[in-house]
Amino acid sequence: MDFDKIITTRRSARLFTNKDVSNAEIEKILQSGCYAPSARNRQPWKFYILDDNQKEHIMNMLFEWDKLNPKERTSVKGTAEQIKTANKMIMIYTNIYKSKAKNGDYKKADYLSLGCAIENMSLQAVNLGLGSCILCDTLYIANEIDEYLGIKNFEQICGFIIGNPIYNYPPKVKKKLEDLLLN
Ligand SMILES: Cc1cc2nc3c(=O)[nH]c(=O)nc-3n(C[C@H](O)[C@H](O)[C@H](O)COP(=O)(O)O)c2cc1C
Repeated sequence: MDFDKIITTRRSARLFTNKDVSNAEIEKILQSGCYAPSARNRQPWKFYILDDNQKEHIMNMLFEWDKLNPKERTSVKGTAEQIKTANKMIMIYTNIYKSKAKNGDYKKADYLSLGCAIENMSLQAVNLGLGSCILCDTLYIANEIDEYLGIKNFEQICGFIIGNPIYNYPPKVKKKLEDLLLN
């Protein structure tokens, strides 16, 4: 697909058909993430590919959290709805450094590196004719999810869902470049 088209047509996909996403497609998306630049080439990303039961379980945990916390007025319920139709879900993690100094100094750069990797993944999904959405709402129950998956020594960054979008989302209104220039 034309690169400009990939950039301008990428949208966060929220509703998917029941068509399968293949293991080869998942691998290609993750591999694209791994090609991203990273601070000092630390490549601070780790991935956990959920199976169908785990995906459903995490979706139910989010619905449950939303029910118990109605006053928080979050987007957690909507996020859980998105997980329902997504074909695959991946949890993304990063390193926790033992040294306090490194944790302080490396963190911001590692988060930036992770953003680069996750955007590569989002763009590769479009290239493959798929859709994806980054889900930070999983962080409301990060500890519960990590305990459920048995993840101990990594920090949860987000969930990432992939599927065949039910329709082509129209372009989202973005801020004008001239309004973003500081000089
Ligand atoms: C760091 C990050 C976290 C996000 N978390 C969520 C989320 O938890 N649930 C959700 O539905 N969308 C989430 N999104 C998607 C945003 O809502 C979406 O990117 C934004 O509305 C712009 O729309 P677009 O991606 O279609 O251009 C997230 C996006 C980013 C970059």
